[in-house]
Amino acid sequence: MIERTITINSLKHSTMTEAQFKEGVKYSEDNFRNDDAPHLKIDKQLIREMFDLSGKRILDFGCGMGGMSVWYATNWDCEVYALDIDAHHITIAQHLKEKHQVKNITFSKRNVLNTPLEEDERFDYIFLNDVAEHIQFPILKAIFEQLRSGLAENGKIFVTYPPWRSPYASHVTHAVKIPWCQYLPKKMLHNLIEKNNLQIVGEEESDLLSAYYGLSHLTHKKLIKIVKECKLKPVYRKSHCVLNKLPGLQNTNINFFPFNFLVTKEFLLLERG
Ligand SMILES: C[S@@+](CC[C@H](N)C(=O)[O-])C[C@H]1O[C@@H](n2cnc3c(N)ncnc32)[C@H](O)[C@@H]1O
Repeated sequence: MIERTITINSLKHSTMTEAQFKEGVKYSEDNFRNDDAPHLKIDKQLIREMFDLSGKRILDFGCGMGGMSVWYATNWDCEVYALDIDAHHITIAQHLKEKHQVKNITFSKRNVLNTPLEEDERFDYIFLNDVAEHIQFPILKAIFEQLRSGLAENGKIFVTYPPWRSPYASHVTHAVKIPWCQYLPKKMLHNLIEKNNLQIVGEEESDLLSAYYGLSHLTHKKLIKIVKECKLKPVYRKSHCVLNKLPGLQNTNINFFPFNFLVTKEFLLLERG
């Protein structure tokens, strides 16, 4: 494949293949424009129902290629600061901002553990959308400690993630075509992913195998332990389950055994404890 260097305004050089760049732009544009994109549909509905982001300062932590950051910025008159550790993702996010001329966003490649949030970086809402399950627990704890100090008065943190029991939690189901494949014997799963391996856009995680091994096997119980240690208080939980499609069960949290294996996404709202 042809390697090319893509330089976007103030960003440093970021090298990825042209195909990866195009794939990333298409993906992030879809996340921003399509309210029915399957993995974001419930997230967007809930965010609209629960929050009015007008006039607020938003931190999109682990913004990836920026689709949701642009969605916040274009649906509300708010100020969005979006950061990620992955240079490829931020390059694409910055491209999306420039292409759609979105003024109220700043994207930054930043690791808050090396460059902590400053005194004047305070946010009304901090979103971690499909991020927490990619971060190992000791690091996640250090991040939540920082995010807590980055909250403005009455600030809130909204965390969404597929819990480890979910049919798609492995992040490789689309390639290996086996839901709950995370429960296969380790060696068998490794071989299966390797056989169906795909390159992905990230610089930090550049194929499905590395993405799989980067997962923290996050569950509600483990997350609650971490956030409580960081003096954060859970004030709302929604467990989105396949069974919520049944009449009368739309708003029920069906997160108990054995139905918790059908929960595809968890949503957790946190405040200072
Ligand atoms: C699955 S993507 C989700 C991206 C985006 N939030 C979305 O909804 O499209 C997970 C993102 O978390 C980022 N990430 C992982 N560890 C991080 C860290 N320590 N600090 C910031 N971002 C991180 C990854 O680089 C990746 O872009």
